[in-house]
This record gives sequence, C-alpha cells and structure tokens, in this order.
Amino acid sequence: AKAHAWSALFAEPMSELVQRYTASVFFDKRLWKADIQGSLAHAEMLAAQGIISAQDWADIQRGLQQIAQEIEAGTFEWKLALEDVHLNIEARLTQLVGDAGKRLHTGRSRNDQVATDVRLWLRDEIDGLIALLRELQGALVDVAERHVDVILPGFTHLQVAQPVSFAHHLLAYVEMFARDEERLRDVRRRTNRLPLGSAALAGTTYPLDRERVARTLGMVDERGEPQLCLNSLDAVSDRDFAIEFTAAASLIMVHISRLSEELILWMSQNFGFIRIADRFTTGSSIMPQKKNPDVPELARGKTGRVVGHLMGLITLMKGQPLAYNKDNQEDKEPLFDTVDTVRDTLRIFVDMIGGERDPATGAKSGGITVNRDAMEAAARRGFATATDLADYLVKKGVPFRDAHETVAAAVRAASERGRDLSELPLADLQAFHPAIGPDVYEVLSLRGSLQARNTVGGTAPAQVQRQIARHRARLGTG
Ligand code: ARG
Repeated sequence: AKAHAWSALFAEPMSELVQRYTASVFFDKRLWKADIQGSLAHAEMLAAQGIISAQDWADIQRGLQQIAQEIEAGTFEWKLALEDVHLNIEARLTQLVGDAGKRLHTGRSRNDQVATDVRLWLRDEIDGLIALLRELQGALVDVAERHVDVILPGFTHLQVAQPVSFAHHLLAYVEMFARDEERLRDVRRRTNRLPLGSAALAGTTYPLDRERVARTLGMVDERGEPQLCLNSLDAVSDRDFAIEFTAAASLIMVHISRLSEELILWMSQNFGFIRIADRFTTGSSIMPQKKNPDVPELARGKTGRVVGHLMGLITLMKGQPLAYNKDNQEDKEPLFDTVDTVRDTLRIFVDMIGGERDPATGAKSGGITVNRDAMEAAARRGFATATDLADYLVKKGVPFRDAHETVAAAVRAASERGRDLSELPLADLQAFHPAIGPDVYEVLSLRGSLQARNTVGGTAPAQVQRQIARHRARLGTG
C-alpha cells in the first residue's frame, strides 16, 4: 500500500488520529455539488483552450455525472484516507474514466478549487436565505395589515411610554429584515467572484480562460460581466466573504432574537397579548398547565451560536500569512452551521408568525393570535397619553417645560386615586391648568393619540397604511 493518498514523497503513513485530525471529508462532502460544478466548468474550458482533448472532456463529463448520481443515491464511498471532498471525487473519477480523470487537475490547485466551491455553495445558500427573509417580511406585513387599528402600549425602558399600533410595531421588524436582505445582496456580490485560475498561489503556466469559467459558473455582475478575483495570492486566501456573510447572519439572528424576546413576553400570562400555535410550544414534565414558548426561546439561544461563529471565523483569519494555509479548512463548519441555523430559524418563523399555507386551498392558518382587548387594556394603564396632554397644553400656548411639569403633577394625583387621566372629571383636570377644555378627552384617548402622530414613519393609521403599501410593492405581494 502507498504510504499516502497522493505522493511517493512521504516515507511513513499517517496515524489514524492524525488522519482524522487533518481530514475534512466528513463535513466538506456537503460541497460536492459545487465541487462537480466547478470541475465541469474548468474541464470544459481546458478542452476549449486545447489543453485537454475533446475525448478527455467527454470522459470527465461522463464520470462526474455518474459520481453525482452515486452521491445522490448514497452509494458513493467517502474515504477518510482521501482527506477531503475534492480528492475523494477526483480519485473516483480516475477510477471511472482513467487518464482523463488524472488530467482534470491541470492548471488547478485545491487552493483555488476549495475557494471556488465555498463561494458557489454560499452564493446559492444566500439566494435561499434572501427568499426566506422576504417570506418572513411578507408574513409580518400580512399580520400587520389585519391589526392596524389594534393598540398596544409602546415601551421605553420596558415602561409604558406611548400607545402605538400593533401593525406599526410589527413593521419595525420588517424594516430590520429588509436591511438584512439588503446586506445579503451586498455580500453576495463579493461572494460571487471566481478564484479558479489562481492555482496554488501564483497563477498558472497554462493558457486558462478564466472569464469563460466565470461565465459558465454564473459569476457575473448585473451587466453579465465576468467577476474574477484579480490577485492570485488574495484569491486563494481570502475568506472576507465568509466573515461578512456570518456578520450579516448574526444581525439576522439578533433581529430574530429581539422579536423572540417580545413574543415570549407578550405570551406570558402577565401580558396575555398574543398566543402562538401549540405546535411551537412544549409542555412541562411536572406542571400540567404549562405551554412554554420553546421555539422563540431556542431562537434567542441560537443567536449566541451564530455570533460565536462570527468570532470564530474572524479570529481564524487574523494571524494568517499569505497565501493559503490549512487553517482555512476550519472555515467550513462554522459557515455550514450558520447557514443551517439561520435557514431553519427563518423557516420556522415564517410559519409561526404567518401560519402555514394549506397546499389545497392556499389559505394560511395557525399564525400568531392577537388579543386586542388585552393590548388596549394594557395601553390604558400607565398613563400612555400623558405626552398627548402636554402637547395639548403647548398648543394652547403653554411652554413645553411648564406643560411637562403640570402633567407630571396630574399623573401623580390621578395615580394616587387609581385613575387614568381620561377618567378624571373636567373640573379636576382644569384644576391643574385653566387652559384645559372639554376637547381634552379626545386627546387623552388611545385612538386620538395614535391619529395625532401623523408624521412620516409615525404610528398614525394613515402612515402605517402607507408603509404597508410600500412593503407590499417592494415584496411584490400587493
Ligand atoms: N480541504 C482543504 C480546505 O478545506 C482543501 C484545500 C487543501 N489545500 C492544501 N494545500 N492542503 O481548505
């Protein structure tokens, strides 16, 4: 037996432990499709440039197609001794088609190969995540549209601040996920560039047509211009795109985590604002009455692991000299786990928020259920319209600082009597300030407070409707 998978240079075999330590096949085999796609594009170009024969190209194509079938059928035999996905596929290709298989690696290194594979794979995953982010935005907009006139207390410091429309609150998350979508599109541009043709680190002596390969792989910009990594040393060692992606993914999870925190709070008995469908909750092994919000809690928890992957990747790169180092093999598990975690989380949230679509009728059911009475009752506690009263006085000519002080005194008095401001008789209110008239009750009402916040981006129903229309146009659902 040969001491090594590839070379006569080595005098002794690796121990089993070192083999396992250095091998990546058990996780990087998930790149197989991208690896075959990259190899096909490379071989096609080698043939077009006359570097390999038309017969070699035909053999390589046939062999790689069979390998794809074997992997899909689960009959492909992955070998630890062959280290990674690239060497496993190449070895099998040679077994299947002989010399043509041995010619595939002409003008190529695993260094530019793996960088290409990861980029191709990630590009497609990014497209999937963008689609999911848009679905989630759509689900939030749907729920918002049904609840424009539902009022809940808006908080600052988690203390009742001012009444807001529940739709307005949900649309705040749509803004976050829209920025996440934008960020992913931006990362995609820098991910979708071709390292192949850089070979090990310095370029290659063969007349490769890199632009052709880029076109074949769809690594082109909006105008169809091929996008190449233009410095071979950088091309094989750059993992910025992976870090940027993980940073964007971390922000997605941070937004999911904030939303989760609110869902958990809102469904606590002390709020009772919403319910989520039973299938997203679990019971307790001891307390028979419990329905716990496990899904949002786990999502909040999994945010930590994605942010951890960002730290892992960024630290992975910090000490590496040019060009490729084996350290880079450690980019895969954090990247894979980031994609899996974000994808599953988004999928679940689409259903948990908006409900699942019945394939037969197209109707959705089982999204979050809103208890508007509980929300409005909570908004009526805590003097949420105190600012409105101050603004009312200002409009009657009272300087804002004086109005603020007057209302503070009124709130204190009302609170001592266990009443809301709107529950005080006019004479009592007038005792705080003579400028107060009977029109004050409209101002002190939750609906009046909402209507009055009619600036762009404010919570007035008219403004909220405008934002819903804008999101619908952007998402193509309106
Ligand atoms: N499995 C390796 C990785 O993931 C492929 C590249 C190996 N290149 C090398 N020169 N050892 O990075």
